[in-house]
Amino acid sequence: MKICCIGAGYVGGPTMAMIAKQCESTMVTVVDLNQDRIDEWNSDKLPVYEPGLLETVKSARGKNLFFTTDIDQTIKDSDIIFISVNTPTKDYGEGKGRSADLKYIESCARNIAKVGGGDKIVVEKSTVPVRTAQMVKEILSSADNGYSYQILSNPEFLAEGTAIADLENPDRVLIGGETTEAGQQAVEKLANIYAQWIDREKIITTNLWSSELSKLTANAFLAQRISSINAISALCEATGADVDEVANAIGTDSRIGPKFLKSSVGFGGSCFQKDILNLSYLCQHFGLPEVADYWNQVVQMNEHQKNRFFQRIMEAMFNTISGKNLAILGFAFKKDTNDARESPAISICKKLLEECAHLKIYDPEVSKLSILNSLGIKEGDKRVHICNNAEEATNETHAIVLLTEWDEFRELNYENIFSQMQKPAYFFDGRNHIDPTIIKEAGFRLFRIGKN
Ligand code: UDX
Ligand code: UDX
Repeated sequence: MKICCIGAGYVGGPTMAMIAKQCESTMVTVVDLNQDRIDEWNSDKLPVYEPGLLETVKSARGKNLFFTTDIDQTIKDSDIIFISVNTPTKDYGEGKGRSADLKYIESCARNIAKVGGGDKIVVEKSTVPVRTAQMVKEILSSADNGYSYQILSNPEFLAEGTAIADLENPDRVLIGGETTEAGQQAVEKLANIYAQWIDREKIITTNLWSSELSKLTANAFLAQRISSINAISALCEATGADVDEVANAIGTDSRIGPKFLKSSVGFGGSCFQKDILNLSYLCQHFGLPEVADYWNQVVQMNEHQKNRFFQRIMEAMFNTISGKNLAILGFAFKKDTNDARESPAISICKKLLEECAHLKIYDPEVSKLSILNSLGIKEGDKRVHICNNAEEATNETHAIVLLTEWDEFRELNYENIFSQMQKPAYFFDGRNHIDPTIIKEAGFRLFRIGKN
């Protein structure tokens, strides 16, 4: 059995590494247009930072796991082809800012049709709008090359930062296929791969459209919980209730459950916002404007939360931060990843820069280039200084703005840090991450989410 995965990104790379590690007799080749990315996957400095990923890759690389830019030949030789290319929000034309841009999915399908090489199973791994498989199917069946193609939907539920643990022991694996006999055989073939390390009961099979829609729905529900608790955090700040106490109290109700109730400066990442906008756009498209508005509100609440946090910084600092130095601790959208896509840090930092603040930014894993690019500024811009550690970032600053919950931020000596800062010194904890007693005892004026 030979597997090809198109797209060596945050999803394709780790997922294929896990399949290769678990299925030693299966040949897994990950292809990508980007030569630099492929070179990094073949080195010890992987393009994706994930705890345990390097070990997983190393256990199979060169044996049954390969990374290459030789896309056509790999497709030709493979029995199963995963499409794991990015599906960003469209930034042009019809559906701009809401609909998913499927141009990469379409070009992959056209390429698979063009290179031929035999009958194949084509698996949508990327998150796509419901009924995308229809487009892939039409393109492949119009190839007229004598080969037959089965399309499956197999969305990925891993979360960044815990990708390896999620892949090793997922809550479920979802496979959607056509209800025909050939469709069911294809589903079975893919299920057999996962069954090499995952219990059969955890492998859910559905029709294609249910599978595609389940991924969007899962992300929408998760994001909705965060927006719901963040909405309550605003009320907590106004009333003196404590959002973590409220979350704990409601989370013990087994019908609600404790997860995804952590109030924060807002959710980020490449998925939540994109997928909800896409879901909402689909609802609009299918004549369901009220449903579209309902889901849109989850994104709007997230924007509101980021803005509220910024406003709080401004108010605390006498509505003037022009010329002041602020330390930004954390830039990734969550801990244990080098990914800053849609990170709340981006919009907070941009707003602070609009107010003419100077920012000293430190993140343990996000690269300098990635930070500068996401802020849309060039190297050498005096307004932003990217630091090598938290001490450097906080030195001579008026305030610390904590935006990512990296473990190492808990281990810092805040008394020392405070002594090196301008007074009064402020601490804005966007994740309620640091023990408040330590921060207050060090002398800071502390501001947290959903707490007075
Ligand atoms: C994934 C999913 O595929 C996306 O649908 C989901 O919503 C988020 O996770 P991700 O792995 O994070 O995307 O994307 P990214 O890290 O950008 O990787 C995509 C890779 O595909 C890139 O390396 C890009 O170079 C490659 N690519 C893109 C191709 O090789 N061919 C193409 O035609 C387009
Ligand atoms: C998400 C889904 O969890 C995953 O199943 C899907 O495959 C991809 O999208 P990811 O975006 O990688 O994964 O990380 P996740 O842990 O879901 O966090 C997303 C954002 O929500 C982060 O910015 C995180 O800090 C924030 N978050 C999460 C909260 O603010 N509060 C919470 O309680 C949980």
